[in-house]
Amino acid sequence: MRKRMAANWKMYKTRPEAAEMLGKLETLCQKKKPAADREVLVFAPFTALETTGKALEKLAAASSLPCFLGAQNMYYEAEGAYTGEISARMLQDVGASWVLLGHSERRHVFHEPYEDITKKIDTAFKENLKVCLCVGETLEERERGFLAMILEKQIMAALENQVQNPDFLPENLAVAYEPVWAIGTGQTAQVEDIKEAHALCRALLASALGPEKAAEITILYGGSVKPENAEAIMAVENVDGVLVGGASLKADTFYPIICA
Ligand code: PGA
Repeated sequence: MRKRMAANWKMYKTRPEAAEMLGKLETLCQKKKPAADREVLVFAPFTALETTGKALEKLAAASSLPCFLGAQNMYYEAEGAYTGEISARMLQDVGASWVLLGHSERRHVFHEPYEDITKKIDTAFKENLKVCLCVGETLEERERGFLAMILEKQIMAALENQVQNPDFLPENLAVAYEPVWAIGTGQTAQVEDIKEAHALCRALLASALGPEKAAEITILYGGSVKPENAEAIMAVENVDGVLVGGASLKADTFYPIICA
């Protein structure tokens, strides 16, 4: 299984900024190729998807680093009177093959309910988009000892309709464990905490989908991943990659993470 090094650009980057960052990353990757077991996945803002996709194609061709494009959200209906929303088909139309769903900023800032995330996952799979599902506890939940309960609730609710789905393919799903208290705070989870949470995620995936499928699902860690801590995080059992926010905005900080 390749290690998935994912960037979540959030509400950053115009088209020229996206192209510039990936151009710099291309130069760095050409100078020294990242290991052959690495792949890059960029979750770009909607308006920069097409530009980012083209720059990723160029990067992949120049460096033989497999690169993939994802969006940061979508709506679950196919089309209709839903002002301001984006459909799975629209994302594919601009070249995205992945979608990030259930990010903590969607859950906590925009109060996205569990049911919506489940519906979005069902639609994404039906429309042949791959899904990166984000899960993770708040500081209060952690302090009250609710980590396992929260992960179970988030994973089981999200995959409710995949349990019996004969078409479900594990390569179409990634789970990103992102403790909410570590996102954008500079406070990274300890290696032992990451190990525990990732083992819990793997076990929950196994109980929902069976151990064979669970073993093939990439589980990413996210939350203040930086060049300084990426290597230690990547070495943790059950960590198959990372989801990087702040440090993915610059080639100088994302490149060493890809290589970690
Ligand atoms: P961060 O964000 O790396 O800036 O903490 C991670 C994320 O929100 O996916």
